[in-house]
Amino acid sequence: TDILALQRMLAAADAIVAFTGAGISTECGVPDFRSPGSPWLKNQPIEFGEFLASPTARMEAWRRKFAMDDIYSGAQPGRGHQALARLVAQGRMPGVITQNIDGLHQASGVPSGQIVELHGNGTYATCLDCGLRHELVEVRRRFEGSNQPPSCVSCDGVVKSATISFGQAMPERAMLKAQALTLACDLFLVIGSSLVVQPAASFPVLARRNGAKLVIINRDETPLDTMADLVVNDDIGDVLTRASLPG
Ligand code: OAD
Ligand code: ZN
Repeated sequence: TDILALQRMLAAADAIVAFTGAGISTECGVPDFRSPGSPWLKNQPIEFGEFLASPTARMEAWRRKFAMDDIYSGAQPGRGHQALARLVAQGRMPGVITQNIDGLHQASGVPSGQIVELHGNGTYATCLDCGLRHELVEVRRRFEGSNQPPSCVSCDGVVKSATISFGQAMPERAMLKAQALTLACDLFLVIGSSLVVQPAASFPVLARRNGAKLVIINRDETPLDTMADLVVNDDIGDVLTRASLPG
């Protein structure tokens, strides 16, 4: 079966890298982007240029962000996160590359130095001008008390959630770390991503071209299924729990 094949591949690998998307967090109550019913399908995402140019767009972005936070808050790592944390703890997985901004890999016990957040982190905000970190409770208090978007307390610059928007440059260090992990692995596991957003979705291709085995665990089809050594179209929590090596 697929589970047996996955178990064999996990056992045979020396360096496993996980590449995760929103599908690993759906069992934790965090919605993904492209499955039917996703709240993200209701609105066009606010692009970076628009966010910078328009205070109205910034207000709308914060309104949506805080509404989503009310759904996220209290989310706990799921079985998928836990299975990956075990592989990391066993020394079999040098790193987790994630597109997720929910912080659940950290919460599952993976050391933050072994997590690469390609799309940033949604649990705090930063000033785009001076880089100062702003805590969300504070930003939210100011957002709720004003009809102007919160600005930097130090330089009055534009404050934004520490996530990457469409149209915004990718985080350089994260990209380099992801590339290094990808080139050093012999098994690359895609978990819960539709693989349609670039440049993130180029890492599985790079891994495969570099000679690693490629496994895709995802309920729906992806554009990279044909280049994978194994595709498992099933529930992530179930698959990773069943395929996990003992101890
Ligand atoms: P998507 O919503 O595009 O894809 C999530 C995938 O997970 C879907 O293909 C689902 O079939 C699958 N899935 C959901 N729950 C599952 C489960 N329990 N078991 C198995 N499969 C499941 O999310 P991402 O690929 O992560 O970027 O999206 C990529 C990027 O698009 C995000 O990082 C975000 C978004 O726009 C930015 O905001 C820049
Ligand atoms: Zn500033």
